[in-house]
Amino acid sequence: MTSTFNVYDAAGYEQLMGRWSQKLAPLFIKFTGLADGEKILDVGCGTGSLTFALAKAADLGEISAIDYSPVFVEAANRRNTDPRIKIGQADACALPFEDGTFDRALALLVLHFVPDAGKAVAEMRRVVRPGGVVAAVVWDHLGGMPGMRMMIDTVAVLSEGGRQLRSRYCFQPMMQPGEMERTFVQQGLADVTETELMIRMDYQNFDDYWAPIAAGEGPLGKYMATLDPAERVRTDVAVRDAYQAGQPDGPRSFANAAWACRGIVP
Ligand SMILES: C[S@@+](CC[C@H](N)C(=O)[O-])C[C@H]1O[C@@H](n2cnc3c(N)ncnc32)[C@H](O)[C@@H]1O
Repeated sequence: MTSTFNVYDAAGYEQLMGRWSQKLAPLFIKFTGLADGEKILDVGCGTGSLTFALAKAADLGEISAIDYSPVFVEAANRRNTDPRIKIGQADACALPFEDGTFDRALALLVLHFVPDAGKAVAEMRRVVRPGGVVAAVVWDHLGGMPGMRMMIDTVAVLSEGGRQLRSRYCFQPMMQPGEMERTFVQQGLADVTETELMIRMDYQNFDDYWAPIAAGEGPLGKYMATLDPAERVRTDVAVRDAYQAGQPDGPRSFANAAWACRGIVP
């Protein structure tokens, strides 16, 4: 299997994650660096949060973006009006580019959904010129996402399926401290640096938080789609209770930490 990410609908993805990956993208760009005239590859572009942030961040020569999901590629192409940006469907583990094509290859919130993430890093290294940069960022599901842990800890108490979801979710590839750094070093990158990036996810109310998950978006939405009607109601009620935390429904703000790693192609 090449991708474990569950795609349901591009608009649902925007509400679930796209609005937050847009906040994370400028921090990631600052970490990776960027210079006018460069050729950049966005690996796993989704609906284009990083792609379009790159176009604004510097006067780049060319931005290529690929994603495994045809639904997201179509949505990103619909948004695109910039002739420097080319978006297509491809697998991060078999990038359709010549060796040394790009100045930087970047992956925002992707490697934890690639079962053979080391292969994707090797491919990113291959398509970047010597002296160029490979960089990636992934969420810390185990220790850095209280808003999502609220849901998975709740379902883990309700059922064995929920416990299995929690185990899968917390131990996706590249999420443990130092794991991405080790992988970058194993793939022959030099001057490898790992750090954390942090944003807040601010919700208006429970429905703003829950609607995309309840509709089936992303890995938690995929789990919801497996439940029978009675289990769904029990889960909705329990997660709402966790969100409200004994207070009336309304805005809640959650801190979210991501691991970011970069290395230089020797
Ligand atoms: C959480 S989304 C991130 C999308 C976008 N980069 C963002 O930050 O909003 C994960 C993305 O990785 C893509 N993906 C997962 N495995 C992939 C693979 N092997 N090749 C290309 N894209 C992949 C998914 O299709 C999905 O768009």
